[in-house]
Amino acid sequence: MSDTAPASNLEKFTPRVFSGIQPSGGLTLGNYLGAMKRFVDMQDAGTHETVYCMVDMHAITVWQDPADLARNTRELCAGFIASGIDPERSILFNQSQVPEHAQLGWIFNCVARMGWMSRMTQWKDRAGKNQQNASLGLFAYPALMAADILVYHATHVPVGEDQKQHLELTRDIAIKFNNDFGVDFFPVTEPVIEGAATRVMSLRDSSKKMSKSDPSDASRINLTDDADAIAKKIRKAKTDPEPLPETLEGLEGRPEARNLINIYAALADQSAEAVLAEYAGAQFGQFKPALADLAVAKLAPISSEMARLMQDQPEIDRLLARGAERAREIATPILKRTNEIVGMIG
Ligand code: AMP
Ligand code: TRP
Repeated sequence: MSDTAPASNLEKFTPRVFSGIQPSGGLTLGNYLGAMKRFVDMQDAGTHETVYCMVDMHAITVWQDPADLARNTRELCAGFIASGIDPERSILFNQSQVPEHAQLGWIFNCVARMGWMSRMTQWKDRAGKNQQNASLGLFAYPALMAADILVYHATHVPVGEDQKQHLELTRDIAIKFNNDFGVDFFPVTEPVIEGAATRVMSLRDSSKKMSKSDPSDASRINLTDDADAIAKKIRKAKTDPEPLPETLEGLEGRPEARNLINIYAALADQSAEAVLAEYAGAQFGQFKPALADLAVAKLAPISSEMARLMQDQPEIDRLLARGAERAREIATPILKRTNEIVGMIG
């Protein structure tokens, strides 16, 4: 991979945000705070065009039941809209409906090196001990992710902390392509990993991130949980017996407390410092009900709106078709030019 940081070439590109979420079922508070809420904030800021994608082709790198995949894709679309993504102001679409992703993905498979891919920690974690039995798609996953981003010449990509290495690989692919072909065609995209909740941790084990794949349902808050379930999970969240400190330094060595403070801060649109200023000296017996009330107030409208939207499947499908059409308006000329640069006759 590149040793020296490249000079940024972003100023020559339209400011454009791209991000994606896999429709592999079940959205958690981690997805909401680490991804969706930030996507909405970037849309509402109005400084960038915003393009958001359900990455079903990434989801099938591991087995997905076909009926579940289709339902989860629609549910994720409903989740995006219920969280505040406006399908008019943002481009919201499903990856497989825009074939340019796969086409550019193939070219990037030929740019990326085996060694780069083998170093991806997510590949190592997900393939586990039995790499020989993992799909080729799981290995190539980060090259497709680079294509998702670069087929829109996206300049900024909001993601959670866990995607940082994939974003670095995206930059390496852009740089190598530009160098190999002697062009300045692909942007060297900036990851946007900021805010209090780029890594929401499990409510049961603060060394693990909150994840839909955790076997314990008590470890996570699902966007579909009702008010009772949310309150119960927060009440039972693992904590320590100390009162809350006055400053961030006081949270050193207290990962459970830190996680709950971060969740509160992100839900309330406050800094962690401001939350501590308000709750310094409070016991968890006092703080947890406040957090539960806040979480219910923010999440309950999202889950009920998701349920409402899911009643009207034709409307979701219509929105997805329209989103794909708009996405292709950007992707088609970029792929065409890429093919020309590579020497492929169009
Ligand atoms: P995934 O569900 O793994 O496809 O993740 C979709 C998006 O949510 C990515 O941007 C992740 O970085 C983000 N994300 C997932 N889990 C968490 C978490 N526990 N904390 C913060 N962000 C997360
Ligand atoms: N790999 C991301 C995840 O697991 C999902 C993803 C696919 C993505 N393509 C992307 C995120 C492009 C940002 C940009 O969370």
